[in-house]
Amino acid sequence: MAITKPVGTKDMLPEEATFWMAFQETAADVFGRYGYQPIVTPVLEKHELFVRGIGEATDVVSKEMFQALSDENLNILASGGHVKSKSRLALRPEGTAGVVRAVAEYNLVAQGAAPVKLMYAGPMFRAERPQEGRQRQFNQIGIECLGADDPSVDAEGIIMLMRFYRELGIPSESIRLLVNSMGCEKCRPAYRDSVKAYIMEHADCMCEDCLRRAEINPLRAFDCKNEACRTVMESAPRISEALCDDCKSHYQAVKDYLDAAGLEYVEDYKLVRGLDYYTRTVFEVQTVDANNNQNAIGGGGRYDKLMQEIGGAATPGFGFALGYERCLLALKAAGYEMPKVSACDLFIACVNDEVRARAFALAQEARDAGVRCDFDHQSRSLKSQFKLADKLGSRLVAILGPDELAEGKVKIRDMANHEESMVDLDAIVEAVKGMLA
Ligand code: HAM
Repeated sequence: MAITKPVGTKDMLPEEATFWMAFQETAADVFGRYGYQPIVTPVLEKHELFVRGIGEATDVVSKEMFQALSDENLNILASGGHVKSKSRLALRPEGTAGVVRAVAEYNLVAQGAAPVKLMYAGPMFRAERPQEGRQRQFNQIGIECLGADDPSVDAEGIIMLMRFYRELGIPSESIRLLVNSMGCEKCRPAYRDSVKAYIMEHADCMCEDCLRRAEINPLRAFDCKNEACRTVMESAPRISEALCDDCKSHYQAVKDYLDAAGLEYVEDYKLVRGLDYYTRTVFEVQTVDANNNQNAIGGGGRYDKLMQEIGGAATPGFGFALGYERCLLALKAAGYEMPKVSACDLFIACVNDEVRARAFALAQEARDAGVRCDFDHQSRSLKSQFKLADKLGSRLVAILGPDELAEGKVKIRDMANHEESMVDLDAIVEAVKGMLA
């Protein structure tokens, strides 16, 4: 049987691959206006980075990470041997940990310097059960701002993400913005204990997962899909009542900035996010479509302790990532149709084989002048060449015939209106550029 793609992965054929490139350009354009610069980090990172950065107890690390081992190390493990932690690699499940690692490694936030603003795009990997909008390899675009803990950074990031969705064409009424504060190392421990105690008081109504989580990360119980757990958690202690004064004023300032920018949001005390590194601001953007389980199209927040967790100097950070595939689903739900893409703008058709060498040279000339150009490599009939030009979506076809060439002329057909014109052979590229303009 022919080999097919792995479960939970997708191919982007030319139409979609072209769209994905335009999608990244829109993001680079919008985020660039806010001072963000691109960074590319490895898809493979040390396994330990995610264990320490994202948290060993998170689903992402404990259940969904793809580990990567060389054949040699795999054999060592299979025979009960030990593989050094630096040789244990993982396919990145998200981009934040890698970017923060790179910022520490290259000391990109020098003492007293302005914060560093970075953006990235690329594939992430999570071994989840695949379904519509949930893949094992998916694409994210994200930003990270390191070196400033001011609430204006958080608000600016959220406003920037909402602007991106708008420029992409996702209708604002089809999405909602949820915000919350997770507190800090001063106020969260006591809050966690109170939630844990609350869960234990209601242990007989809670699912096994929540009871297990209560030990390691009780706040995840707010995320449980189980109806009984949801009902119990409705009356659980709320973080808003447990925030310390600093976290309260930070959160209030973020909301004030959002209000001043006229951004609508919902405060959601249940928003806890699935990665352990968050402190203070967290947010998520969801589609309002009730039938869609995978409705988060983007999310992020502040992580003031992550850099230290992975061994760097204390550096506050804020960021978000958006899921490309889920954004595309949201666009399609709003009636968006992906534009057809053409492979060339000028197709050179040969009346017979005698003129092929001239067609070959003319194609080079056109490409050198910046025209997207192709011709038939298979000695097809003229009729078949027109079919091919049509299939490639070419706007113009130049018809090279021996008689016309002898007179220094070429016929050009506009495929949109079927109009034909004769142009001088030595001025053809300029004439084509004029017609395409
Ligand atoms: P996240 O919420 O885990 O955050 O992922 C961000 C987005 O990636 C989600 O909102 C969703 O659109 C998309 N996504 C996640 N998992 C999948 C999947 N299996 N299939 C398709 N799309 C998916 C992060 O990854 C954080 N690193 C965001 C961040 C940056 N926080 C601070 N800085």
